[in-house]
Amino acid sequence: MTDSLPSPPDGAAPPACPARGTAVRLSGLAYQQTPEQLYRTLRRDHGPVAPVLLDNDIPAWLVLGYNEVSYVTGNDELFARDSRRWSQWDHIPPDWPLLPYVGYQPSVLFVEGAEHQVRAGAISDALDAVDQMELASLCQDIGYALIAGFAGSGQAELMTTYAHQVPMRAIVQLCGMPAGGLDTEELVRDLRLSLDAHEGEDPVAAYGRVQARIEQLVKERRAAPGDDVTSRMLLHPAGLTDEAVVQDVITIIAAAQQPTANWIGNSLRLLLTDDRFATTVAGGKLSVGQALNEVLWLDTPTQNFIGRWAARDTQLGGRQIKAGDCVVMSFAAANTDPGVWPDGHVGAENSSHLSFSNGEHRCPFPAPQLADVIARTAVETLLEQLPDVVLGVEAHELRWRPSIWMRGLGTLPVIFTPVLH
Ligand code: HEM
Repeated sequence: MTDSLPSPPDGAAPPACPARGTAVRLSGLAYQQTPEQLYRTLRRDHGPVAPVLLDNDIPAWLVLGYNEVSYVTGNDELFARDSRRWSQWDHIPPDWPLLPYVGYQPSVLFVEGAEHQVRAGAISDALDAVDQMELASLCQDIGYALIAGFAGSGQAELMTTYAHQVPMRAIVQLCGMPAGGLDTEELVRDLRLSLDAHEGEDPVAAYGRVQARIEQLVKERRAAPGDDVTSRMLLHPAGLTDEAVVQDVITIIAAAQQPTANWIGNSLRLLLTDDRFATTVAGGKLSVGQALNEVLWLDTPTQNFIGRWAARDTQLGGRQIKAGDCVVMSFAAANTDPGVWPDGHVGAENSSHLSFSNGEHRCPFPAPQLADVIARTAVETLLEQLPDVVLGVEAHELRWRPSIWMRGLGTLPVIFTPVLH
C-alpha cells in the first residue's frame, strides 16, 4: 500500500517530484480495501497535502484536508482545470490508464472561465427541465423490470444487475436514447472499464467506444430533436457545436452513471451490513435517506478527483506547489478530516460534505438532486420488492473496485425469498 519510491529503470529519467523519497503510491488493491488507513498515515506524515504517486509513478499532490480541498475548489484561477498545464506530460505513455479522464478534452470538465460558464449553464438548463417526479417514476419502472429479471431465482449480484443499471438506463433515456435502442449493457461496461485501471482491459479503448456511441446519438438528435437533454443542449441559445455537445453528453453520462451507481451500491451495502439499519429493511429505525447521506460522508462514490493543475507557484497546506503540478482532491479524506470532526463523529446529519465538490466546476445544479432521486428510488424500490433481502456473503468478503476515482463494490451478492411474478 505505502510502497516507497522505486529506483527508475536504467536510463529512464525520473519524474521530478518535490517530495521525492517520501511519496506513496495511490494505487493497488490494499489501498482500495482500506483507504482510510492510508489517509491516516499520510496525514500523520505529511499533514493535509501529501506527495503521492499515480500509475507509472507519476507524482502528484493528494489534498486530504477539508479546508484545503475547499480552498482548491474555491480558487479555480490558481488551481485550474485545463490539464495541459501539467509538467508531467513528457512522462505519460499513450496507454496511461488514467488518461481517459485526465487527458485534455474540449469538454465542460476542462474548459475554463467564460467558456466554462456557458457550457455548464447549458448543462444546468438542460437538466433543470427534467421533471423529478417523472424521473422517480421512470427509475421505479426500471427497477421493477430489473428486479423481475432475477426475483424468481432468490439470489442476485446487485452491482451488475441493478446498481449500475438503474442510473445508466435512466440517464441514457434522459439524454434521448430510446429504451433498448442502444446496447446499454455495453455502454455500462465500457464506462466502468474506462475508469478502472486494473481490470486487465484497456481503459483508453473503452473510452473510445463510449465516444463513438455518443457521436451517433448527437447526429440522430440533431436530425430529429426531442424532449431530452441532448436535444435541449443542441437547441440551447448558447449555440454549442455538435462536437461540444458530444463531449458534454459523454461527461453527463459518465459523471451521472458511475457515481450514482456506486452511491446506490454503497448505500445498499450499508443497509445490509450495519445493525443500525438492519431493522429498517423490515420497516425500522434509520431511513434510506440517512443511509444515502451517511454514504456521502463515509464512503463517498467520487473518492478522489484528478484534478486541478497549479496555474502558478503557490502554497497549499504548508507545501510549495509549483506551476504545472497536479493536485488530486480526496473528497473521501476531506469528508473525514479529524481537523473538522475531532471527535470522530462525522456530520452525517447534514450535507456539508464535499462529495459533490464546490466552486465553478462543482457537480452542476441540479445534478445532485437528480442523482438523489435516482439513488433513493433505486434503493427504496429494491427493499420494497425484496423485503427480506440479505447479504449472500459475509460482509468482510465484499471487495472494493480497484479504481482510484470511484469507491464502489466489485460485486454485491444477495439472497432473498424467490418472488414469482
Ligand atoms: C444525475 C447524476 C449526475 C450528473 C448529471 C452529474 C453531472 C456532472 C457534471 C456535468 C460534472 C462536471 C462539472 C464541471 O466540470 O463543471 C460533474 C462533476 C462532478 N460530480 Fe456530478 N453528476 C451526477 C451525479 C453525481 C454524484 C452522485 C456524485 C457524487 C456523489 C457526483 C460528484 C461529482 C464531482 C465530485 C464532480 C467533480 C467536480 C469538480 O471538478 O470539482 N456527481 N457532475
